[in-house]
Amino acid sequence: MARSALLNVMVQAAQKAARGLMRDFGEVENLQVSLNGPGDFVTAADRRAEKVIYEELEHARPGYSFLMEESGSIEGSDKTHRWIVDPLDGTTNFLHGIPMFSISIALEREGVLVAGVIYCPALDELFVGERGKGAFMNDRFRLRVANRKSLDNSVICCGVPHQGRGDLGLFRKELARMQPLVAGIRRTGSAALDLAWLAAGRFDIFWERDLAPWDIAAGVLLVREAGGTISDIDDKPTMMETGNVLAGNSSLHRQMVTLLKP
Ligand code: IPD
Ligand code: CA
Ligand code: CA
Repeated sequence: MARSALLNVMVQAAQKAARGLMRDFGEVENLQVSLNGPGDFVTAADRRAEKVIYEELEHARPGYSFLMEESGSIEGSDKTHRWIVDPLDGTTNFLHGIPMFSISIALEREGVLVAGVIYCPALDELFVGERGKGAFMNDRFRLRVANRKSLDNSVICCGVPHQGRGDLGLFRKELARMQPLVAGIRRTGSAALDLAWLAAGRFDIFWERDLAPWDIAAGVLLVREAGGTISDIDDKPTMMETGNVLAGNSSLHRQMVTLLKP
């Protein structure tokens, strides 16, 4: 697959930031034993990665607006285009030396997601997609959601509320309902990767509540381009606003909408 100029810009930004993140990731292990732990160090790594991405994108497409996890909204002279960026998705993993983390960059044009890049530097897996042009892994493999239709041979992935975040009671009910029905349940710690892996057919279902736009923007585009269905948990198209996400092939998605009804 030959990358478009737009995807090249996005991939270059992601890979430049990834080089810094990988250097910092190598340091985290040494910091585990330090008195204050590596928390501040990781925050600094996160900010550095965001700065690199901002500079690269702003240089290549001057004036576009931004929504970024660390810096928030930056209004550009061009309000029709907006980059949505999570420079490090999977911070807790990164902090613990777990290599499941990613960089997520999406582009919106007039409020419509038109391109997405998710890069997992530790695995060197690059997921890219453009609206109407499909999605690919490592420029070679076309992404297709899995076509398993039955939950009993499906591996499903979800977020897990923790430390006072999210509705623990609701999640426990949902999990209890799903556990007897499926082949396996996973939680990776990077919602962007969860969606990329769903687009790649590795996970059959993903659901999580209370996510932010930068966690899911690129993933929403990839899932759609991989032929998947993605919505709010009650099947509305408002996941970018509510942060509640349910994704899968159309058949499993339909089954899950019913199963996740309160
Ligand atoms: C987090 C990850 C995680 C999800 C959390 C997010 P961060 O993003 O995507 O998988 O469960 O809700 O906040 O903080 O690592 O960028
Ligand atoms: Ca995130
Ligand atoms: Ca983040």
